[in-house]
Amino acid sequence: MPFFHKHLLGIQDLSKKDILTILETAESMEGISTRDVKKVPVLRGKTIINLFLEPSTRTSSSFELAAKRLSADIINFNRQASSVLKGESLRDTVENLEAMYADAIIIRHTAAGAPHYVSTFCRSHIINAGDGAHEHPTQALLDAYTIKQKKKKFEGLKVVIVGDILHSRVARSNILCLHKLGTHIILSGPPALVPESLEKFKVEVNYDMDRAVEDADVIMMLRIQKERQQKNSYPSIREYRFLYSLTEKKLKKAKKKVIIMHPGPVNKGVELTSDLASSDRSVILKQVENGVSVRMAVLYLLLGGKEREATD
Ligand code: CP
Repeated sequence: MPFFHKHLLGIQDLSKKDILTILETAESMEGISTRDVKKVPVLRGKTIINLFLEPSTRTSSSFELAAKRLSADIINFNRQASSVLKGESLRDTVENLEAMYADAIIIRHTAAGAPHYVSTFCRSHIINAGDGAHEHPTQALLDAYTIKQKKKKFEGLKVVIVGDILHSRVARSNILCLHKLGTHIILSGPPALVPESLEKFKVEVNYDMDRAVEDADVIMMLRIQKERQQKNSYPSIREYRFLYSLTEKKLKKAKKKVIIMHPGPVNKGVELTSDLASSDRSVILKQVENGVSVRMAVLYLLLGGKEREATD
């Protein structure tokens, strides 16, 4: 399964075949995490920098575990404990880290386009772990992997994404990914957070969540991205919850075997009830588990595949 990319900057750059190659490779990685010795030597001798200039629990720790399970050396680097706090620029930070012979740099940054910028002057492989409101490609890949695991197909599925679509890099990457895989996508949320212009991505927009979730196979709930909003985009949390929180009553309109997804962190009682988050229809922790296999696949395909002929 050849994979002709040097970097993973966004789903935008991947073909359907690339996405399926990553998902198939993740499947072959899955068994490693449940062994007694959770390690294979395929990336032995490689050095990876986990450069997180914005907070993370799931992405940062699963990239670290993924690298360690493939026997790579990984250094975790966050804003609070670095010279970025003393004013060092992104370019200087990356050039200094790369001078220590890094093979790959995983980067999360508040600015959209930061990983793309870094890829213009770095010789290492660059992996986007979330850039502003732009893309979060490994989240979309692990979401697609989870959907495939649960539904065995993409075409013909109805996936409803609810919440703050405008500021969500998870939504953007998922829309791009699921569209390439042939699913029918419906977006729902407050009009200020789900602009009609998104229909250019060939999705359906329905502001009435009760209607949007009718016959859904997958409901993906999103967190309100307060840190990226310039002003309030809905009258109150109470009203938001009334209209766009997933409840048992709304869920009844979806298909019986619907799955509930959320990239985390979940605001229980806002995006969905605590009961639904831990119900047997929720795959939220499965998404987290799958994140490790998918990130192992991404690291392996970018750094490890012997037959890989990387191109910029
Ligand atoms: N889903 C996700 O990106 O979570 P973290 O912010 O905890 O990495």
